[in-house]
Amino acid sequence: MSTAKLIYDGKEHELSVIEGTEGERGIEVAKLRQQTGLVTLDPGYSSTGSCTSAITFIDGEKGILRYRGYPIEQVAERARFTEVCYLLIYGRRPEPNELAEFRESMTRHTLLHEDMKKFYEGYPPGAHPMAIMAAMFASLSSFYPETDETLELNILRILAKSKTLAAFSYKKSMGQPFIYPRNDLSWPGNFLRMMFAVPAEEYEVHPVLESALNLLLILHADHEQNCSTSTVRMVGSSQANLFASLSAAICALWGPLHGGANQGVIEMLEAVQADGGDCGKFLSQVKDGKSRVRLMGFGHRVYKNFDPRATLLKRAADQIFNELGVNDPLLELAKSVEEAALKDNYFVERRLYPNVDFYSGIIYRAMGIPTEMFTVMFALGRLPGWIAHWMEQRNDESSRIHRPRQIYMGEQKREFSDQGTKVL
Ligand code: ACO
Repeated sequence: MSTAKLIYDGKEHELSVIEGTEGERGIEVAKLRQQTGLVTLDPGYSSTGSCTSAITFIDGEKGILRYRGYPIEQVAERARFTEVCYLLIYGRRPEPNELAEFRESMTRHTLLHEDMKKFYEGYPPGAHPMAIMAAMFASLSSFYPETDETLELNILRILAKSKTLAAFSYKKSMGQPFIYPRNDLSWPGNFLRMMFAVPAEEYEVHPVLESALNLLLILHADHEQNCSTSTVRMVGSSQANLFASLSAAICALWGPLHGGANQGVIEMLEAVQADGGDCGKFLSQVKDGKSRVRLMGFGHRVYKNFDPRATLLKRAADQIFNELGVNDPLLELAKSVEEAALKDNYFVERRLYPNVDFYSGIIYRAMGIPTEMFTVMFALGRLPGWIAHWMEQRNDESSRIHRPRQIYMGEQKREFSDQGTKVL
């Protein structure tokens, strides 16, 4: 085992170096404080590994993403979302009979408890569906208490009911009646029907929409220790139940620097279009540093070359638009913005490239999914990843509650004098 040496205050300390199966190395500092009295300081965790994990591998320099060792390009081309859920959560590909059983169990749990429908009634018409989703996930724990015996079933319930919860939140925002699940349909097909069907009218799932949604769900399914997944682990580390941990992850995903960026991209492109469609003018605003405007859907903490998910989605966008016969000027505008940014020194020097959110929103839009639902779509795809990480941590006997340290920079001890302002 290799080691690293830390010399501090004239004393030498040896720290072990752990090496992952793909050659990543990390200095183990868990005992650092005990040995030296020091802590590490890394706001934003750019250089901090919070755990070891066997779920997803990313090499940001080479643009590599693998689920359980399988390259994302192959998974995206050959798998269905249900199989990816199984793969991520249970660590291996299911045998055909196991997959059939898994699919069957998942479709048996799509209905919501009728009492849950009452929650929807309390929201104002303009309620953001992410607010509804976060609340509904926490509420599920009151209907399906978690024990060692119910956990497996609860995982199936989450994967099955999440799409019903999401579609109902959309129907609520439209003031339309809820459409109940139809379990002979695929996961994406069932969701699309609950979103777009209206009572007393036939609805046929469009195969292009179904396969586009399958692709989007797969590409969002996991991405190792990002903000929302780290949130799942943080909350789960206190032994909070799975529903509560997922509700927290949904909140973390909502922010515009994370999953909320897909909504941000469309709002940004619409604003550029409304301002005459001048990419150069917009990029100057991004670069001037004064406006705090960011090019949404660009940049990533880990990918410094390209995001393989964005490459797949850009290709898929053209195909989906052609097959659906949709002509959206925002797609052309997005391509022009991307082209201009990739040639611009500001973005080149900072190694900023399109991320998964740059093209996903444009595809959702072509599918008829409203902008406010985009981050919900991301959450639906990310559920198996969040569950896999929560389970991995739960099954790790060495796991402890997450409790970082800080370096205090506030006032030193001072007297709280009696100013006679005390009120009872
Ligand atoms: N537009 C303009 N400038 C940017 C952008 C951007 N999208 N992203 C980073 N930069 C600049 C920063 O201003 C900074 O410049 P400086 O060195 O002159 O100060 C430099 O690039 C490094 O940026 P950081 O913010 O330090 O990078 P970090 O790794 O902390 O942030 C993040 C990554 C949040 C994704 C960032 O690139 C960003 O805000 N992107 C836009 C939002 C977005 O698309 N989020 C989705 C990410 S993917 C996902 O979560 C699914």
